[in-house]
Amino acid sequence: MDNRPIGVFDSGLGGLTAMRELARIMPEEDLVYFGDTGRVPYGGRSRETIIRYARQDVAFLSGFQPKAIVVACGTVSTTALDVLRAEWAAPMFGVVEPAARAAAQCTANGKVGLIGTRATIRSGAYERALAALRPGTEVIARACPLLVPLVENGRYQPGDVVAETVVAEYLAPVREQGVDTLMLGCTHYPLLKPLIARYMGPQVTLVDVGEQCARWVAGQLSAQGLRAGRTRPGRHRYFVSDDTGDFAALASAFLGEDVGADVEEIDITIY
Ligand code: DGL
Repeated sequence: MDNRPIGVFDSGLGGLTAMRELARIMPEEDLVYFGDTGRVPYGGRSRETIIRYARQDVAFLSGFQPKAIVVACGTVSTTALDVLRAEWAAPMFGVVEPAARAAAQCTANGKVGLIGTRATIRSGAYERALAALRPGTEVIARACPLLVPLVENGRYQPGDVVAETVVAEYLAPVREQGVDTLMLGCTHYPLLKPLIARYMGPQVTLVDVGEQCARWVAGQLSAQGLRAGRTRPGRHRYFVSDDTGDFAALASAFLGEDVGADVEEIDITIY
């Protein structure tokens, strides 16, 4: 039993897709979320910069003495996780392995689509994980750099003409290849899920990497005897590196509860 909090971070709003699922399946856990909204997006930056930012994110969360850290960001999971794991003692969970497991189980025809940020696609991390789990799987990968800014600006609802156009442009070649599974390899993308699902059609299963990661974390913490032993609901705190207003509004809408009073701004550059 371990009542310390779980730390969760992302470059911005995207990690909330993992946070929501963590809160749903482990309501007794205290969760501390950091969204680096002052420096989002990470996905177009160099590996060195992504590692530098991720180190600061982990250093900030480490101040809460977390029992585990969830790297709820595809870009950091694919680009910096090994470095972070070597530097910090807390168990650290990324999104790649659980998502690749889910995709390997889902696909019947062995054709898996993958969308992510430029850094994620460049890393080849999802492809390596899938090749180990299901040799011979064909991965049709596409970088979608405009999707994170759309989500961060709240432009992810079905019917949003700009979002619909951008999604169609990115996904047309993936759909043409006849994939039966599509990995949403960036934690921001599940906010676009209804729109993406409509474009891809009902024959394509969407893998939400944040959700898969949260389930994996719950299983791992249980197996290691690290779940909280309290009966009260866990406390959820949110920290961002820019103005709290926009984050609070979008996060409240996505999480279906008003989190405004629990959001604080911090200076991440001092970590
Ligand atoms: N949610 C992050 C990811 O999963 C977004 C990356 C970015 O900031 O570009 O990759």
